[in-house]
Amino acid sequence: KPLVFSGVQPTGNLHLGNYLGAIRKFVALQDSNDCIYCVVDLHSITAQLVHDDLASQTRSITAAFLAAGIDPKKHIVFNQSRVMQHAELAWIFNCVARIGWMNRMTQFKDKAGKDRENASLGLLAYPSLMAADILVYRATHVPVGDDQKQHLELTRDIAQKFNNDFSARIAELGLGVEMQMGDETVNGFFPLTEPIIGGPAARVMSLRDGSKKMSKSDPSDLSRINLTDDADTLSKKIKKAKTDPEALPGEVDGLAGRPEADNLVGIYAGLADTTREAVLKEFGGQQFSVFKPALADLAVHKLAPVADEMRRLIADPGHIDAVLRDGGERAGAIAEETMHSVRDIIGLLQD
Ligand code: TYM
Repeated sequence: KPLVFSGVQPTGNLHLGNYLGAIRKFVALQDSNDCIYCVVDLHSITAQLVHDDLASQTRSITAAFLAAGIDPKKHIVFNQSRVMQHAELAWIFNCVARIGWMNRMTQFKDKAGKDRENASLGLLAYPSLMAADILVYRATHVPVGDDQKQHLELTRDIAQKFNNDFSARIAELGLGVEMQMGDETVNGFFPLTEPIIGGPAARVMSLRDGSKKMSKSDPSDLSRINLTDDADTLSKKIKKAKTDPEALPGEVDGLAGRPEADNLVGIYAGLADTTREAVLKEFGGQQFSVFKPALADLAVHKLAPVADEMRRLIADPGHIDAVLRDGGERAGAIAEETMHSVRDIIGLLQD
């Protein structure tokens, strides 16, 4: 049975990339799937250990989930650190995964920078915890932006190595499910999770530089649209967004070699829930002086209600905390069931 899992870090403001690349997909998937959405607070301490506002950031991401339309009664919304089985499984995965796998992660290389020896061990092991987040629920589908693709490939590698290394134990304990791997049918415990990446906004780029992704850590606030920007700020940022002097092309091919134009068209398509083709049908031949105000109006129209609802929810932290507590209890029950089996598979002594 399909089960959807995804996570968002509670660091910094949520931006349009997070919203279009991830959160909007979370909302769309909840109609026909069981979903678990997690605020991954333990991931936030890998890059920087001390935060003065981790709890309020956690509440604010939770508020964004709810404001965007995730239903915490039908689905599960919680913060990672409440369910200690994530950290427990991550430890086991640290012993499954190889150091070389972690060293190859582009996000690690980017975040660790030149002084790799001095990065936290947690930053290196980050993908192990991410694999544990997903596999402690044996989730089958993970909606994410394009930048998480490599981490999800690693999640599959970890699942596959665990299934393979313990195949005899898994079969002996009757804990496996039949899975097709290439031509072979194997008896695996962990599913090989499928990423859900795609649509016009799987990779939203910086408004100042079409070759860099929109990110929480960009020092320039003009580079991103924050979910909580007011209408004036939002319009100003779109007006100032970098573009080229040409009019918009009539066809998607005409966006090749024009990363900034491509990005703005992708953002419009993401917000309007349509395709780049459809946007260019409407705006092909128009100048940015026409397209940018239309984009700003659309962005305000789509984002302002979410931001308003977020502010309303944040004003009642008691409600948010109750959602996380309830979600944590439900998540914990599933996670413990998985861990009980994992301990048996490995041969750890337990009751
Ligand atoms: P995080 O918190 O950096 O980002 C949350 C989600 O937003 C997506 N995203 C983007 N999508 C499109 N364009 C962009 N410019 C952009 N920037 C960010 C991310 O791809 C992500 O889907 N490692 C994850 C959190 C995580 C997780 C997990 C995700 C931890 N455990 C298990 C899925 C499953 C991260 O740092 O996302």
